[in-house]
Amino acid sequence: PAAEQALQSFCGLAATADAEAPSAGEVAEFNAHLQTMSGTVVNPSADPVTCSAGLPTIAALWLALEGMGGADILMCSTAYGGSSELTDLCLTRENLRKSTFHIQGGASFNGSIEAALGALAADPASLRPTTVLFVEIPSNPDQKMPDLAQLAASCEAYQESSGKQLLLLVDTTFAPASEVLGRIGDLAPELGAMVFVSMSKSVSRGETTAGALVANHTPGSQALLHASREVAEMLDVTARQDQMLRLCRNHVGVEERCERAYENMVLMAGVLRGAVKTHTGHDMPVTMVGPEHAAQGFTSSTFSFNLPAPAGATPEVKAALAQRFVDLLTEDAERFKPCVSFGQDNGLVYCTVPATSTQGAIKEEDKAQQAQGGVQLARLSFPPAIDAPRVQARIESACAAIYA
Ligand SMILES: Cc1ncc(COP(=O)(O)O)c(C=O)c1O
Repeated sequence: PAAEQALQSFCGLAATADAEAPSAGEVAEFNAHLQTMSGTVVNPSADPVTCSAGLPTIAALWLALEGMGGADILMCSTAYGGSSELTDLCLTRENLRKSTFHIQGGASFNGSIEAALGALAADPASLRPTTVLFVEIPSNPDQKMPDLAQLAASCEAYQESSGKQLLLLVDTTFAPASEVLGRIGDLAPELGAMVFVSMSKSVSRGETTAGALVANHTPGSQALLHASREVAEMLDVTARQDQMLRLCRNHVGVEERCERAYENMVLMAGVLRGAVKTHTGHDMPVTMVGPEHAAQGFTSSTFSFNLPAPAGATPEVKAALAQRFVDLLTEDAERFKPCVSFGQDNGLVYCTVPATSTQGAIKEEDKAQQAQGGVQLARLSFPPAIDAPRVQARIESACAAIYA
């Protein structure tokens, strides 16, 4: 509607599009809900910063940090490709520096972070004033969960040994209602922490793109929030009226939508594992958020897996297997979609091979570590409502086809 209105004005027509705005009360309710879902106290003086999509939100934060003397950004080598690439683009600013930690395969989530923080702290003279530890919880694409107590302890130890402020920035896009800031606050009450969430998925039900920053109760995090808001306004990337309207009309119920999507995901992971076992005899591991973390609100509707190679398969067949499986599923375009996104409330199961889609910008050697036995990782994401018998039948027939 915002674009339509601009075109109407440009053509000299009456600007009838984009006339409706959310009320101040609806916006206040939305902001309070974002703070509650992120696990921090409702505080209108630190309202979340809402931008037109997830990535401009991150850009506003990085540029705000650059204006505050700079930052060392530590993020996962296999983080969402857009976040990785955007961060790399911002590194042309000499006040920003990025390093990575690795969590693919058998690597330990906490151990890798601890080692990377240790490496930074070993050279304190080279550090910028703020260190940002940017972590997707659960992780993309393999849905790993860190031990939060150990993570909080590592952040505190780093501040002590380096003498620098650390901001723990959590990307909660996969599980927006996990209240993760509250858990972190219980473990490390003084630690500066912030949530970044892409709301282009489950928060808006897919009705609009958007992204938000939510600060925890600490003064450092709130100061950075205010600086990010100023940068977002200056760059003109704050959410438009039509986006705010859609966010205000769709955010209610996201917790319950995520729970239903999680249940669908668990059900269909069982179907997939059963079908693979029938055809190959293998108990294929599936990486997903387990019931203990789901009960805490980390209800991600995504799982990923490396299909076992068919007996006697050539390297070419193995290399093509994950995409072939996705292609077979998505032949049923009414129930499956080849897409990197997730969380939308449209009855479609989103299927992708992250190495060639969401992780387009990730280094080849990092992506290669996700392959097993020559077969790349595949990822499926489930909506709150599915046609379960048909989805099950399609997963079973796709397995039958690749192992025929
Ligand atoms: C985990 C994660 N973070 C950030 C983003 C970026 O959000 P947006 O697409 O709203 O710019 C995405 C998008 O897919 C994502 O999956």
